[in-house]
Amino acid sequence: MNNIIYLDAAATALKPECVINAEMDFLRDSYANAGRGMCARAVAVDLAVSRVRKKVTDFIGAESETQIVFTSGTTDGMNRIAKIIDTILCRESLKDKTIMVSDLDHHSARLPFEVLRDSIGCNIVLCPMDEKYNLMCSDLPKADVFVITAMSNVLGKPQDVPSLIAAARKKNPNVITVVDAAQYVVHEKIDVKQWDCDFMCFSAHKIGADTGLGVMYIKEPERWERPDKFGGGMVSKIIGSAFSHSYEIKWEPAPAKFEAGTLPLTQIVGLEPAIDYLIEHRPNLEQIKYLYDRLLKNKNIEIITERDSSMLTFYLRNMHVLDFGAMAGAKGLCLRVGNMCAGWLHNLMGLSGTARISVGPWNTEADIEKAAEIIEGTVK
Ligand code: ALA
Repeated sequence: MNNIIYLDAAATALKPECVINAEMDFLRDSYANAGRGMCARAVAVDLAVSRVRKKVTDFIGAESETQIVFTSGTTDGMNRIAKIIDTILCRESLKDKTIMVSDLDHHSARLPFEVLRDSIGCNIVLCPMDEKYNLMCSDLPKADVFVITAMSNVLGKPQDVPSLIAAARKKNPNVITVVDAAQYVVHEKIDVKQWDCDFMCFSAHKIGADTGLGVMYIKEPERWERPDKFGGGMVSKIIGSAFSHSYEIKWEPAPAKFEAGTLPLTQIVGLEPAIDYLIEHRPNLEQIKYLYDRLLKNKNIEIITERDSSMLTFYLRNMHVLDFGAMAGAKGLCLRVGNMCAGWLHNLMGLSGTARISVGPWNTEADIEKAAEIIEGTVK
């Protein structure tokens, strides 16, 4: 790795050999489009896509492959969910509805719903948090849509998603629940059936697969009659006369009706080995604990995460975080600095930015030791 110590797994994971090989084999030997051909090669790609969809179904505890939609990532998924809700609940009925978000939310989870509020004038309320910034089930406001960050990309603590959803349903049995699992999926087993969420999203690149691919789980895909994107592969029939310009369009059943256009096939092929690899090689959080214990002793470092978090986030007493990131980077340490696209949480904490360390299965003890030396040497 050219003497680089890569401790930025939460931004994107490095790729295991099995993913690289699967994608290279596909690109070199088996490439064809899916859902569009009858030749053996095209049929083999169809089968590969179905196999990966089944793998994802089992991986997240879904009931059926029809609930698994491939997107281009969590950001795409969350934006699409906001649009699906907007289209289906329809603007008129959304006007007097309430959307609950939280200050834990990453921009891609919250912004689509903030923009929805701006355009239709519905209410936005915040999910209450305790003093450690965990989402609280008690005193939950009544909401029609509830956006839940299953694990913050700044604080790295799993949230009690099933209890939050159960509490929200007690207030409103019809609440639509949307879970951003982009960070959670790396560390914990997702069980959408146990969560009982209506939607859930994650990105493939954070679990060792490629960029440009995400998963959107939809509990009841046929409830959302009108798709949010239109194009090839999602229409089963166009009935009508070309002369009258009056057509009836029949959508394919889910998941095809939510997958307009050519899928990111190479990335889908890489997702299967990535899931297998992740299940066997979750990040070693003892490495985070070691760094926590060591950096806690440094008077220039203020850690904001807990010892058992899945990441270590801190700010510096004597240095701007961006200067720190550049200086540590020049010494070969890759970590994330800035507001982590979690501006609301940083505002709440009164911080303009933080530095974040996150580990992946590639990190060795020697990496961690060297990282500690670089950090201590930079902030001294
Ligand atoms: N959302 C990603 C992160 O937390 C990119 O770094």
